Amino acid sequence: MKNKHIALYISGGIAVYKAAMLARLFIKKGAKVRVAMTKAAQEFVTPLTFKGLTHHEVYTDLFSKHGSPVPHIELADWSDLAVVVPATADILAKMAQGIAADFVSTALLATEVPKYVVPAMNNKMWANPATRRNVAQLKTDGVNVLEPATGFLAEGYDGKGRMPEPEEILTWIEGTQASNFAKDLAGKKILLSAGGTIEPIDPVRYLANRSSGKMGYALAEVAQSRGAKVTLVSGPTALKAPKGVEVINVKTAREMEAEMLAHYATADFVIMAAAVADYRLAQVYEQKVKKVGETWQLNLVRNPDILKHLGELKQQQLLVGFAAETTELVKHATEKLRQKNVDLLVANDVSRKDIGFGTNDNAALLLTRDKAPQETGKMTKQQLANLIYDRLLELAKERE
Ligand SMILES: Cc1cc2nc3c(=O)[nH]c(=O)nc-3n(C[C@H](O)[C@H](O)[C@H](O)COP(=O)(O)O)c2cc1C
Repeated sequence: MKNKHIALYISGGIAVYKAAMLARLFIKKGAKVRVAMTKAAQEFVTPLTFKGLTHHEVYTDLFSKHGSPVPHIELADWSDLAVVVPATADILAKMAQGIAADFVSTALLATEVPKYVVPAMNNKMWANPATRRNVAQLKTDGVNVLEPATGFLAEGYDGKGRMPEPEEILTWIEGTQASNFAKDLAGKKILLSAGGTIEPIDPVRYLANRSSGKMGYALAEVAQSRGAKVTLVSGPTALKAPKGVEVINVKTAREMEAEMLAHYATADFVIMAAAVADYRLAQVYEQKVKKVGETWQLNLVRNPDILKHLGELKQQQLLVGFAAETTELVKHATEKLRQKNVDLLVANDVSRKDIGFGTNDNAALLLTRDKAPQETGKMTKQQLANLIYDRLLELAKERE
């Protein structure tokens, strides 16, 4: 926060008084704060409060007779981050639609820096489908939105819509900012595989596994936010890829292998997070197989070992493999590290219910050739992704 230029946009909700405390917290952290208020916001607290706190005129008027001739662009360009607190249903709608109707909405439309929006409103306004659509649109546009808290509303009853306390808002912004601002993967090309592959049996049946794709998608999201150029080769999954990531959808192990090889030569970091089926049918049935016998035996043949193949072809790439084990984690993972010629192996114990397949958390053992295994402890898949990139950057540095 130190010396950061924060543009604080205040719209007209009952929680405006909390924005004054947030402004003070920013200033205490060493940030420089300038405030813009909507007409409605000034009905709740006068600009004088914010002028006193920030030692700067408050922007209220798009066509001001004083100061800069284009004040909304002046504020937009001056800022390193934009914070909208409290954000009314109205300003969310304007931002989602790109409406520039007054000083605040126009300056926000002209702002390219990261935006942090803290909605606060009546629970029925928050639940309204129009507000839901606007919030979803803002998130798609890359705006950071803090969910309102559930609690006692100004209306005198409990509901979701209350603005979180200023300290919580500050912690949220600092946390989100840390990942937004560290662009230490800029210039790196990262090739990822995610999800499980599926192997057809006949036109209606297939063999699958329990991979949700969450780890691979977290790796894509984190790499993207740290500035990398990301190509994600994904098996079928319900997940939505982060904006800006090149996604190549595949179904079978052989399709995945072909795409990984096609993008391998120019990649810097290559991470095989997909759960690739080890076997496929020797021959896929062309027609749906009728259920006739009491038993049915399928003839399976080995699929290509993509990770091993990538290990054999390795040049400048740093290669990462995942090992999902249910027994003797360290032993199996160490063997895999050597056999597949990978630089970093992420081993999980998938027999644990609280981590691994389908969950939001993970706990892994990170193995490299010449360092002792590092136990990560339980953390979110995003945190683990960050740790993996930190280790890869270290390995890349050691090579220089
Ligand atoms: C007493 C009072 C409290 C209000 N509180 C909120 C609120 O918490 N959130 C909200 O979205 N709108 C609230 N409104 C409605 C907004 O002030 C109104 O929609 C206004 O047009 C918002 O304008 P702005 O987005 O330009 O600030 C409140 C209105 C009144 C009269």
